[in-house]
Amino acid sequence: MLTIGVDIGGTKVAAGVVDQDGQILDKVKYPTPSNDPAGLADVVARAVDDLRSRQPEQACHAVGVGVAGFVDEDRATVQVAVNLGLRDEPLKERVQAKVGLPVVIENDANAAAWAEARFGAGRGSAHLVCVTLGTGIGGGLVLDGALFRGRYGVAAEIGHYRMVPHGRRCACGNHGCWEQYASGRALVAEGQDLARTDPKAGERMLKLADGDVEQVSGHVITQAALEGDGAALECFRIVGEWAGLGLADLAAILDPECFVLGGGVSDAGSILLDPVMTSFARHVSGRPGRRLAEVRLAELGGEAGIVGAGDLARH
Ligand code: BGC
Ligand code: NA
Ligand code: ZN
Repeated sequence: MLTIGVDIGGTKVAAGVVDQDGQILDKVKYPTPSNDPAGLADVVARAVDDLRSRQPEQACHAVGVGVAGFVDEDRATVQVAVNLGLRDEPLKERVQAKVGLPVVIENDANAAAWAEARFGAGRGSAHLVCVTLGTGIGGGLVLDGALFRGRYGVAAEIGHYRMVPHGRRCACGNHGCWEQYASGRALVAEGQDLARTDPKAGERMLKLADGDVEQVSGHVITQAALEGDGAALECFRIVGEWAGLGLADLAAILDPECFVLGGGVSDAGSILLDPVMTSFARHVSGRPGRRLAEVRLAELGGEAGIVGAGDLARH
């Protein structure tokens, strides 16, 4: 049985036909319309229609939509999506009316966590925490083998865990949220700050950004870091240190078997993983003696959201 998984991110809506083994058979991608809820449902419906038109009739049975926001326990409404500008958005109703298939809405990071648990880096672990370091920080908890949503659907909104009292302002209205320190946006802020205040040290990043500080992006920093550039590596060390601090707190609360790190920032591989693991091991409570959760890189990359949303629509 085939389903369609859709991943709504800050910049793009990506969708794919997903089979029962978590394989993507066909894929489409569109830009995310900004601050336009009706337009967003249109784009999701167009993606679904495009994919269905290329499959045998009635091959696809359901649609799962992962969205970067707080999704209620009915898996129907987006309560708030700070990085997408949505509030009380009846996304399920809107999409279902257009595509005529059963639709479930899921938090993007929950979907990614489910995909990694079933088909990716978390295979075989019944207790895992998936952390997606993208525009924001997403979280997904698989506990005793099941996705944990909490009473109102919004468990694992770990990006808004307030790590720093009176810290950096967050779009959610609070200050000091973890995602202001360890997300892709935080990495970019670090890189731009460094290039601005010390253009000599930031020379390589600036070169890759055509000399424009504003164009120092996650890709630029990652590229420079992969080349061994000291300034870019320093940005990853800083962000990795913050990320590891958060994992230490999560381990104190949840004691998972493993953490899976996904999202765009994790494309840097060991350049991210090494400082995260160092920081985690240095800050976790109960050391030495405590058994440490493993920290692994996600395996499904940018496709985890699609695969997980598609698979959750089947279950
Ligand atoms: C949102 C989460 C989302 C995460 C990653 C956070 O800002 O609150 O719902 O999972 O970003 O996209
Ligand atoms: Na989540
Ligand atoms: Zn926040």
